[in-house]
Amino acid sequence: MIRSVVLGCGSYLPERILTNSELAKKVDTSDEWIVQRTGIQQRHIAGEGEFTSHLAIKAAKAALANAGIDAQSIDLIVLATSTPDQTFPATAVAVQNALGITHGAAFDLQAVCSGFIFAMTTADSLLRTGAGKRALVIGAETFSRILDWTDRGTCVLFGDGAGAVVLEAQEGAGTTADRGVLTTHLRSDGRHKEKLYVDGGPSSTQTVGYLRMEGREVFKHAVGMITDVIVDAFAATGASAETIDWFVPHQANKRIIDASAQKLHIAPQKVVLTVDRHGNTSAASIPLALSVAVNDGRIKKGDLVLLEAMGGGFTWGSALVRW
Ligand code: UT7
Repeated sequence: MIRSVVLGCGSYLPERILTNSELAKKVDTSDEWIVQRTGIQQRHIAGEGEFTSHLAIKAAKAALANAGIDAQSIDLIVLATSTPDQTFPATAVAVQNALGITHGAAFDLQAVCSGFIFAMTTADSLLRTGAGKRALVIGAETFSRILDWTDRGTCVLFGDGAGAVVLEAQEGAGTTADRGVLTTHLRSDGRHKEKLYVDGGPSSTQTVGYLRMEGREVFKHAVGMITDVIVDAFAATGASAETIDWFVPHQANKRIIDASAQKLHIAPQKVVLTVDRHGNTSAASIPLALSVAVNDGRIKKGDLVLLEAMGGGFTWGSALVRW
């Protein structure tokens, strides 16, 4: 059977770092509160004139370099974002154009913080049907642009950044010893659509709007939803907390990550954590964390890597990948 094998990954973070102490000068918060409740110490903020596409292009180029392949061999770009440069065209075509690619397809996908898992699943499905041979899967966000910087309940949580992976369709034996995406599980439940949303949009208000969240409500559902789709991934493959090498969760809140890992009996040393340095970068958080763990030598070829995310919608999902 065809497997979507990871050839490389890369990421980009804007230069400007915003610390908790700096934030405490703008809104009624403290470094202590933010660290205790979320694990976040700092986040990166895109510069003036620096758009989601700019971050995505840099991450894509880094992923291509890491894979050691030419951009011209890419025939599919799936870009997950909730903060596109414009309502349309898709930010993915700006990336495609910057890479000088004029063949194949490029499109955006929107599933908020679960966007990367949804994009990876979509790319994997298309590669396995033969619709493409090599895909760039990108998560890129500039959430700083949709934050209400007077709302301490949300503005301390998010940051900007982008990450990308290159997938290639390769023949596999059809066992879990294969390299590549082994299983993916996606879920959505629109009954929760008002718990985390943006209060604007082209069709409703003709404005961009600001992020609104009932943090406690999101928190309440997060661990259960995350662990459900991971149990599904384990059931589909026979993998377990013991057999996975790395757990790379969406980075929203250290308390959610710790509680999910604990519930699943995943050893703390297998958990890749970047929320302290990146904050919640929505669809970019997983490929950013993957890049960190690949670059520092933790994730190696052949390792079994478990990914998960949960976010606005609600949407949630998991992916099990042999690197
Ligand atoms: O990417 C996926 C989507 N997002 C998430 O996964 C986020 C999920 N939610 C969370 O991570 C947490 O709910 C938060 C970090 C947002 C909040 O933590 P919490 O422990 O649920 O706190 P809370 O909302 O229950 O608020 C506790 C107190 C409140 O004060 P009172 O009512 O107890 O007097 C808040 O007003 O903390 C107050 N508070 C703050 N204090 C200082 C809220 N935000 C802040 C702040 N600094 N930034």
